[in-house]
Amino acid sequence: MISIKTQVGIIGAGPSGMVLANWLKKYGIDAVIIELRSREYVEGRVRAGLVEQNTKDILKELGLDARMKKEGIVHDGVYLSFDEERIHIPFGELTGGRTITIYGQQEITKDLTDAWLDGGETLHFETKATKIIDFDTKSPKIHFEKDGEEGILECDFVAACDGFHGIGRKTLPKKSFQSYDITYPFSWLGILANVAPSTDELIYAYHENGFALHSLRSETVSRLYVQVDNDESVDNWSDDRIWSELSKRLANLGWELKEGPIFEKSITPMRSHMIDSLRSGRLLLAGDAAHIVPPTGGKGMNLAIADVKHMVDAFVAYYKTNSETLLDTYTNDALRRIWRAQDFSNFMTKLFHKQDAHGSFTYRLQKAKFDYLKVSRAYKTTIAENYVGLPFESFKN
Ligand code: FAD
Ligand code: PHB
Repeated sequence: MISIKTQVGIIGAGPSGMVLANWLKKYGIDAVIIELRSREYVEGRVRAGLVEQNTKDILKELGLDARMKKEGIVHDGVYLSFDEERIHIPFGELTGGRTITIYGQQEITKDLTDAWLDGGETLHFETKATKIIDFDTKSPKIHFEKDGEEGILECDFVAACDGFHGIGRKTLPKKSFQSYDITYPFSWLGILANVAPSTDELIYAYHENGFALHSLRSETVSRLYVQVDNDESVDNWSDDRIWSELSKRLANLGWELKEGPIFEKSITPMRSHMIDSLRSGRLLLAGDAAHIVPPTGGKGMNLAIADVKHMVDAFVAYYKTNSETLLDTYTNDALRRIWRAQDFSNFMTKLFHKQDAHGSFTYRLQKAKFDYLKVSRAYKTTIAENYVGLPFESFKN
């Protein structure tokens, strides 16, 4: 039986777990991370790409933004299209200079993992957390399995940063929270292609054939998505069919979509999931472990890292001043932003996806919103400030 002790036991080496570990280290608080998958798997997992202003500020504060600053692409706006008509939302002008950066989630995770391991800290890959016990005492424990051997990580606090399928949420006492779920009647088929992006900033588009999004990863790699039915299979989507749909859905007078070899294709379901408590005793949850948003607002990873800010504040107050006040307010401090992001992600999803027949009442409401957006600086500002992410001060009581 392996036995380890630390101050904060972290389950999960995704963005939330890795930001938490590196941030605690800055304050001299010890942490050990347990991660189910291999390092190669975690670093190769294709996911988010949109990094909002708060996340950039946090990585800067941690001194871990050097590669993002060099390789990331700063975007000062976004294009929104509806029925082949396109408008631009200028972020800087509408939000006092806040922007987003395009930089892959796996690159952030890699930078954070390198910093952690280079500093001689402990991260157990291919290690499965199986059980969290005694979190209603001062000495909670994570049971785990590594190479067929069992182990116990004893700590002061357990941070469950273990994503939607982890054990953190399942361990919370059933009656301690309410959960909320929406499954949208459509999914995203996402591709990565070796072709220069056909746009300088992201394009979100409503089209009578369905939603499309043009994003990117670098000057030579494009990331694009199309709305598909929930029961679709990638096998039904040849490269030609994908490019043809993208061209139609993203169309705009005088604009052309460049095509290239596709090297990744996958389907992601769209859902909103929420629980309204992120803590039970000395077990605290962050990120996808507690909430999922549909990716239309680019919020999931950013929200996970925002939870961690509140968690760090709570741990620092506990270890440095022996105060439990921020532990007690952790759930509510995090929930204000989470609900805002749920609303924004739901709003963007409903505005740009085909939900009902073209010309239906629902379609007319979507179109009315877009037409209003064209003429209203206030409405554009609402989208801009949510998209780049509201500052932490906005959520103070
Ligand atoms: P995860 O990244 O899921 O990490 C959890 C970790 O815990 C995993 O490594 C897992 O292996 C580990 N784990 C699970 N169970 C155990 C266990 N029992 N023992 C040990 N380890 C365990 N977000 C954005 O902000 N911007 C975007 O542009 C964006 N685009 C997206 C596009 C797509 C197609 C998808 C699918 C998601 C997108 N997201 C986006 C969402 C974002 O990727 C997630 O919200 C983010 O990964 C959440 O981070 P996390 O650390 O909470 O969880
Ligand atoms: C991405 O680049 O993968 C991406 C960008 C914006 C989104 C979702 C995904 O809203």
